[in-house]
Amino acid sequence: MRTREFAAPEAHAGLEWWRSAVIYQIYPRSFADSDGDGIGDLPGIAAKLPYLARLGIDAIWLSPFYRSPQADAGYDVADYRVVDPLFGTLDDFDRMLHGAHALGMKVIVDLVPNHTSDEHAWFQAALKSPPGSAERARYLFRDGKGAHGELPPNNWQSVFGGNAWSRAPGDSQWYLHLFDRKQPDLNWDHPEVRAEFEDVLRFWLERGVDGFRVDVAHGLIKAPGLPDWDGHAAMVEGAEAGNSGDSDSAGPMWDQDGVHEIYRNWRRVLDAYPGERMMVAEAWIARQSRLARYIRHDEMQQAFNFDYLLAHWDAAELRAVIDSSLAASAAVGAPTTWVMSNHDSVRHTSRFGLRKPGARPKGIDANGEQPNEALGLRRARAAALLMLALPGSAYIYQGEELGLPEHTALEARYRQDPAFFRTNGAEIGRDGCRIPLPWKANAPSFGFGASETSWLPQPGNFAHYAADRQDGVSGSTLELYRRLLHLRRDYQLGAGQLQWHTVGASEVLSFDNGQLHAVINLGMKPVTLPAGTLLVSSEPLNAAGQLPGNTAAWLLPAHRPMNTSR
Ligand code: BGC
Repeated sequence: MRTREFAAPEAHAGLEWWRSAVIYQIYPRSFADSDGDGIGDLPGIAAKLPYLARLGIDAIWLSPFYRSPQADAGYDVADYRVVDPLFGTLDDFDRMLHGAHALGMKVIVDLVPNHTSDEHAWFQAALKSPPGSAERARYLFRDGKGAHGELPPNNWQSVFGGNAWSRAPGDSQWYLHLFDRKQPDLNWDHPEVRAEFEDVLRFWLERGVDGFRVDVAHGLIKAPGLPDWDGHAAMVEGAEAGNSGDSDSAGPMWDQDGVHEIYRNWRRVLDAYPGERMMVAEAWIARQSRLARYIRHDEMQQAFNFDYLLAHWDAAELRAVIDSSLAASAAVGAPTTWVMSNHDSVRHTSRFGLRKPGARPKGIDANGEQPNEALGLRRARAAALLMLALPGSAYIYQGEELGLPEHTALEARYRQDPAFFRTNGAEIGRDGCRIPLPWKANAPSFGFGASETSWLPQPGNFAHYAADRQDGVSGSTLELYRRLLHLRRDYQLGAGQLQWHTVGASEVLSFDNGQLHAVINLGMKPVTLPAGTLLVSSEPLNAAGQLPGNTAAWLLPAHRPMNTSR
């Protein structure tokens, strides 16, 4: 007999599955390594599909696994239709995809359209061709300023630090790269660029993928003339930087109106395929009303909610973000999304353990404030009960279900993030959230692969978080996530409605979603729960039956009928 967590794919058919889906982000190089080379791969993912199905997720999103020199861990793509040998082959991809579908899980792949690798055939051809050539027109080559063109064409800075323009040795012209110099920006005003990416979409749609996560979705079109701008182009934090601003655009490289035509075209491509194929925008945009434009009915289906990721462990702030997110997406008829961690941010277990819980350092090293690990984990577990009780779609970053912290003491010699190098270490960077997962406490590389090797070293404390230490252990974070995800499905929380309750304590959030009542105590003092049946709590209740500080609970209030399916 099929169990709930192994529900057949058709169980979701016709429901616009993405509206309420829990989507698990896999960072392939750090998930599971099948061949012992220290880098995770597609067969490694395939082997863990039963684990993911049992967890109770609806879909997986894979960060890039395409051919790439790995200058930005695969976000520098040299060939969009080829699997990099580091990760396996196209056959491995197909096997993994079919395996996921057979277990009832959808698969979303990453699309990186803003830039290619400098090793992409197009860029190589451009370098070999003269200024003004058709080959150069697909990128943003410009003559420099100054008597001999020795100065960059404008003052833009790279998101990863330093100048956003480079010249190949011996080349007279500069090319734009909003990220690393090995990631030249494409010219999206060029019809060949548009046609090529529609074809790349079709390539993966025909293989059966269920959707795309669109990298830097707000960056493809630049303001005409590439005007100077004195701001600094940042990643997730950019959304915060612009929060109080009134301007519609954070800079001439972001959120230009012209991007929407591209997504309308893509939507038509997706809609020509059977099933419910979707796109999710990675767009760091401060104003939610501007972000909502990406998820209008004829564009993408979802956008990441970075305001939620950026929120501090603070009841009023979280409530305000939840309300504004629900309102902004409702205005365009789209679902809201929720996310706390990803491969670009310090893991929330560690952010919540800082003196200012939820602060957003750009990486943490041994010289920085070390998070309180136990407190951070405790808050992260409570935060899971908040996020997973909310209507809409939720994203989980691999290892979050284990309560995995950031590696906060990785030595500089191991660092690989280009942001670390381009800022001369001023930005610690993102390596600490990308450490290979611990699967077995007592195995080499904590069971990540068949050898001791892992592309980034794992800290000793990962043993405590290993999946095999938590599997079947009551009260473990893994078992908590399993329980939450199954309750979320049973009570259809993703498709529900949020109704706030007013409570006396300002540090407590309390709301209904359908039959379920959630209470999140973000303060230190215990609070009394309403009468009812406790379904789950992030920590045990205290001896007086109260909800302790930094703890959350889901319950069925006494005056409501119980769900008889459980
Ligand atoms: C990805 C990053 C990447 C950048 C450039 C981001 O949005 O999430 O990991 O470095 O795009 O592709």
